[in-house]
Amino acid sequence: MNNLIKDIDIISAEEAQACDYKTTVDEVTGKTKKLYIESYGCAMNFSDSEIVASIMKENGFDTTSDFEQADVIFLNTCSIREKAEQTVRKRLTVFNKAKKKKPEMTIGVLGCMAERLKEKLLEEEKVVDIVVGPDAYRDLPNLINIAEDGQKAVNTFLSREETYADIAPVRLNSNGVSAFISIMRGCDNMCSFCVVPFTRGRERSRDPHSIVAEAQDLFDKGYKEVTLLGQNVDSYKWSAEENNKARLNKKEEEISEVVTFAHLLEMVAKVNPMLRVRFSTSHPKDITDDVLYTIKAYDNICNYIHLPVQSGNSRILEMMNRTYDREWYLERVAKIREILGEECGISSDMITGFCSETEEEHQDTLSLMDLVKYDFSYMFYYSERPGTLAAKKFEDDIPLEIKKRRLAEVITKQSELSHKRNKLDIGKEQVILLEGTSKKSQDELKGRNSANKVVIVPNGDYQKGDYLKVRITDCTTATLFGEVLEINPASL
Ligand code: SAH
Ligand code: SF4
Ligand code: F3S
Repeated sequence: MNNLIKDIDIISAEEAQACDYKTTVDEVTGKTKKLYIESYGCAMNFSDSEIVASIMKENGFDTTSDFEQADVIFLNTCSIREKAEQTVRKRLTVFNKAKKKKPEMTIGVLGCMAERLKEKLLEEEKVVDIVVGPDAYRDLPNLINIAEDGQKAVNTFLSREETYADIAPVRLNSNGVSAFISIMRGCDNMCSFCVVPFTRGRERSRDPHSIVAEAQDLFDKGYKEVTLLGQNVDSYKWSAEENNKARLNKKEEEISEVVTFAHLLEMVAKVNPMLRVRFSTSHPKDITDDVLYTIKAYDNICNYIHLPVQSGNSRILEMMNRTYDREWYLERVAKIREILGEECGISSDMITGFCSETEEEHQDTLSLMDLVKYDFSYMFYYSERPGTLAAKKFEDDIPLEIKKRRLAEVITKQSELSHKRNKLDIGKEQVILLEGTSKKSQDELKGRNSANKVVIVPNGDYQKGDYLKVRITDCTTATLFGEVLEINPASL
């Protein structure tokens, strides 16, 4: 088993996607220059690349899918685990070759790795011309001008206010059906293993009207699903008073004084009953019953919660500074089941081999998984990140082999649970949103049910963006199969 996972940092069906990167598509609107962006990491980073593309478009750049044709190459990077940074460094050697052929090319490192390493990145990676942190994207045109004059440029200023609320993202690699909307930035939690508070800065919430307007605009353009993004969406909080009275207009007076995440969900759900609403990530310490009741009240808010537990053991959770324990987490899950029922999808993130974790404590993670019966999980072994609380306070003392063996056990457990949960869906009627053709065959179409599971149906007279009522007929660990009962049912 160890051999099987020897070089794999993180494994799950979803992980194959998470390891992947996204690039830009060819967009020709007659601009004079070409931009290529490669994005790594989480959905927030992918969403940021869409803001970057928008800023660059305003400044004369169309996007290209061919980096050798580009005038500017951006790598939007992730620092969450060591492996994520290694991948970026490997890509820089490839771009180094491209730059040798075309020396006037500008190469920029954006995102979390830029923020973490700052000027050091210029010293370590000579090919890099500009280094730009996640809050400094408005400065990109200026930084590119500096680079074009032959100098190196860095801006890693972290802001307390920046939310890019007024920037209409250019939708990159979109299937035209689902889109991300960032509702907040940064993170004020200090999970001891995590680099995000250092790379993304303080938490700040975006004006809810700009969020609703973006959702409305997407719906008007034919999108059927939005995912509201934040590192901890449950701590979303916006008040007109706190967030600059000068910008008040009539509409803003109509909303309650403080907009919580439950309010925001409701506001977005009301954009249109045929617009599906998803959100990620929920934090076990902050998810409120109000949020659960709001999900229940609106058919178009998906019955699915990503609620990362990280560990099933209370001592480890305390060391991780997650600020909840096993009992608290299980109580939140019981509440989800009570309000939203057994069919509500629940997924998680798990870290194995955190500092000092014993075999018994690892068993607690496995037993918690059995109790919650997750639909799927993103699973990782602990990777120490420089500068984090854990790196300062605790010894990274679990040997890699043990971390990987525990990870393999967690993955095996999750596969069993996913299969069991999927089997429960057989015979049920569900509404899916069609996303396109299945990867495996042109004769099959792929959609997603409310609980975020992929459902494959035979090809027919329908298109992506259609809602289909289906009956689930079969399943594997990762996928459900269905037969179509009705096209575009009246309600979701
Ligand atoms: N804000 C989200 C998580 C964002 S990072 C939350 O609080 O749940 C995504 C996942 O990466 C985390 O949930 C965690 O499981 C994993 N992760 C973060 N830092 C890690 C590290 N140092 N080593 C291994 N996995 C890590
Ligand atoms: Fe990292 Fe914790 Fe913030 Fe998630 S909540 S981004 S794990 S510090
Ligand atoms: Fe990675 Fe930064 Fe996201 S570290 S996971 S890209 S917030």
